[in-house]
Amino acid sequence: MALTKRETRSVLVLGGTGFLGRRVVRHLLRRGFEVRSGSRHPERAHSIFGKAAVEAIRADVTDEVSLNAALARSANVINAVSLYVEHGEQTFDAIHVRAAARVARVARDVGMRQLVHISGIGSDPLSRSDYISARGRGENAVREAFPGATIVRPAVMVGPDDAFLTTIARLVRLLPVYPLFGDGKTRLQPVHVEDVAEAVARVLDSGDSAPCYELGGPRVYLYRDLVKTVARQSSAHTVTVPIPFVFWSMIARLAEELPSVPLTRNQVELMRRDNVAAADLPGFAQLAIEPAAIEDAIQEMLDQKSQR
Ligand SMILES: NC(=O)c1ccc[n+]([C@@H]2O[C@H](COP(=O)([O-])OP(=O)(O)OC[C@H]3O[C@@H](n4cnc5c(N)ncnc54)[C@H](OP(=O)(O)O)[C@@H]3O)[C@@H](O)[C@H]2O)c1
Repeated sequence: MALTKRETRSVLVLGGTGFLGRRVVRHLLRRGFEVRSGSRHPERAHSIFGKAAVEAIRADVTDEVSLNAALARSANVINAVSLYVEHGEQTFDAIHVRAAARVARVARDVGMRQLVHISGIGSDPLSRSDYISARGRGENAVREAFPGATIVRPAVMVGPDDAFLTTIARLVRLLPVYPLFGDGKTRLQPVHVEDVAEAVARVLDSGDSAPCYELGGPRVYLYRDLVKTVARQSSAHTVTVPIPFVFWSMIARLAEELPSVPLTRNQVELMRRDNVAAADLPGFAQLAIEPAAIEDAIQEMLDQKSQR
C-alpha cells in the first residue's frame, strides 16, 4: 500500500535523547517531520522535548523484538546510538556492528524509505583500534543490509554540553600545566553539533542524498592550538606539555578499572589519529551549510557556564 505524504515524513530517531540525537529531533521538527524518539529510557525524551512534540518509544537496538515494534510506524530511521566505553554485553562489536546491522536489516524488511546511519570520520574496518574497526565494520554491514543507506561521519562534535571542549575548558582552568596527548600535533576539525543535526535533517529532507557525507568544521586545528584557543578564551594562563602516547595508554589501562572510567585506551587511540573530513567526499558544501566557527561554540559554552 502506498504511503501518504504525511506518512513519508515520519521519522524514528534511534538515540533521539543523545547529544546529537536530541538536536536532530529538533531540526526535523522545524522542517515539519513527524518525529519519534527511540531509546532505552524514553522518559528522558519527555523532559527534553515535552510530551506533546515528540512520541517517545522504548527501543533497544540490541533487541530485535523492540526494534521491530519501534520501526513499524515510521517511514524513515536515523541511527544515532552510541557506545564509547565497553561494559558487560555492551561491546563495540555488539552496538556498532551487530546492532547497526540489525537496524538496517529490520529497516529493509519493513520497507523503510530511508536509513541514515551516524558513524564517525576515520572509521576503518582494518584499524587496530577496537572502536575504529567496529565503526568501519558497522558501516559495511549497514550498506550490505540496506544498500541505499546514507552514512554520515561527523568530526568531533562540540556544543554547550559536549564532552570534548567542556573537558578542555575545565582542565585549563584547573591545571597550570596542561598535559597533551603526544606532541599535540594531531589534526582535528571540530564541528558544531547543531550544524551536524541540520545536515542530517537536510539529508532526510532532500530525498536524493549521497551515500556518505563527512562533516568537519570550518577550520583544521592542531590539538595543542585548540587547547590554547580554549585557554585564551577562558582567560586561563596555560602552559602545554607533551606527554608520550605510551604513557597515556598505561594510564588508560589503569583508568579502565575505575567505576566511572575517566579515560579509555580507545580514546587515547583516537587522539593518535588526524580527524579531518576527506576533501573528495560530500560534506557541508553539498548540503548548502556554512559551518559555525568553533570560537563561537567555545564562547557559547563559557557563557552558559557563567550563567549556572
Ligand atoms: N559526540 C561526538 O563528538 C561524536 C563524533 C563523531 C561521531 N559521533 C557519533 O554520533 C552518534 C551519536 O553520538 P552522541 O555523542 O550523540 O551519543 P550520546 O550522547 O551518548 O547518545 C546516545 C543515545 O543512544 C541511546 N542508546 C544507547 N544505547 C542504546 C541502545 N542499546 N538502544 C537504543 N538506544 C540506545 C541513548 O539513550 P539511552 O541510554 O536511554 O538508551 C542516547 O539517546 C554516535 O554514532 C557517535 O559515535 C559522535
